[in-house]
Amino acid sequence: MPLQTAPLPLASVLQQRRDRLAELHPQPVLLWSGQAVARNFPANVYPFRANSHFLYFAGLPLAKAAIHLEGGRLTLFMDDTSPEAALWHGPTPSRDAIAAEIGAAAAYPYAQVDHYRAESATLPFQAKSDSDRSQALIEALVALRLHHDDEALAQIKRAAAVSVAAHRAGMAATPKAATEAEVRAAMEQVIVAEGMTCAYNSIVTVHGEVLHNEQYHHALAAGDLLLADIGAEAPSGWASDITRTWPVSGRFTAPQRDIYDVVLAAHDACIAAAQPGVEYRDLHLLACRTLAAGLVDLGLLKGHPDSLVEQDVHALFFPHGVGHLLGLDVHDMEDLGDVAGYAPGRSRSDRFGLKFLRLDRPLAVNMVVTIEPGFYQVPGILGPARQSGRYNNTVNWERLQDFQQVRGIRIEDDVQITATGCTVLTAALPTQAAAVEALVSGG
Ligand code: GLY
Ligand code: MN
Ligand code: MN
Repeated sequence: MPLQTAPLPLASVLQQRRDRLAELHPQPVLLWSGQAVARNFPANVYPFRANSHFLYFAGLPLAKAAIHLEGGRLTLFMDDTSPEAALWHGPTPSRDAIAAEIGAAAAYPYAQVDHYRAESATLPFQAKSDSDRSQALIEALVALRLHHDDEALAQIKRAAAVSVAAHRAGMAATPKAATEAEVRAAMEQVIVAEGMTCAYNSIVTVHGEVLHNEQYHHALAAGDLLLADIGAEAPSGWASDITRTWPVSGRFTAPQRDIYDVVLAAHDACIAAAQPGVEYRDLHLLACRTLAAGLVDLGLLKGHPDSLVEQDVHALFFPHGVGHLLGLDVHDMEDLGDVAGYAPGRSRSDRFGLKFLRLDRPLAVNMVVTIEPGFYQVPGILGPARQSGRYNNTVNWERLQDFQQVRGIRIEDDVQITATGCTVLTAALPTQAAAVEALVSGG
């Protein structure tokens, strides 16, 4: 039914996004929100998160809804809440009220979306669609979502500020915590209390060498480093992504501090170099060379940093890319494969030191990326590497013994590219070793 109500402020931001989509992709588009998945009975569901492409244009985390977009005009398809659902979940705004809030031109029951399927482009993982049509839509979505508008940036900053507070709380809680789980609880408490959720499963571990460790049962011991990778997600869906690594005791040991400062040098070098036109791949290689140079200075690697990086020796200790796109998702738009991450005509390298690079594009104003170099001693990488004898001329395996207590360090910030360089959106959380120690000890 056509709507008469005046659109609210959210609607004007959404309208701009839809108008831009119409310029890039004049053909009609259908996007679905998705719906909650039941665990064991219909009313006991896994936490629901609306699809990000839907959220970008619809603005609200609606469940079991679809939008049709054409010429900047949005048609909403969703059902009004039934009296039975209202009994369990409370009253919710009507379809027409939601439609007015997001500036929909019309709103119909969910089942009516079926009439628009045949004519519309959609995403291949949402519904059947002609693959040429899907490809054109994917390219338009990437072109739009790569560069954030003011509202998106404001939302990412809100999420980032809460993540900063969560990390401060985690550092402060560490001296009295017995396990990783207690520090995680202190951190997520801040996010939950702000009415936010986590943008991804939290990593809070003394085994930082497990890159996406999702166990929290280990006891904290005085000599351990604790790696915490936790990011808040605003109710609007915009994400943040921060990692800090701190000593459980409040003081880095000398070997820990040595490696920490090498990782920090790589982090700082990338942030100093980030500006429009710079290739993200070159930032990654800068991080690799900075790490390699630092490890040579510590006597851990042997050779010239450039040559070590060409041979991928650094990747034994830094086996991932220096970061990724950030937006409505952490690893933004990776549901589209590498279309967002890799500029047209580029594809992943099969080199050990480059194949995990998630982003290979020139930086541009209002892209938001993470910068997250690290150092890890992964037994599954270093054991076979040592056994093979292949690295005997480039790795000082005996010297590595002195750094056994450094299992994993990562330092991760969220960076907005600006006309003159970049702004670190998470800069309120210190990275310098002494400042991190002070935040832990101050707790
Ligand atoms: N939090 C996941 C990542 O940093 O990539
Ligand atoms: Mn990240
Ligand atoms: Mn992270």
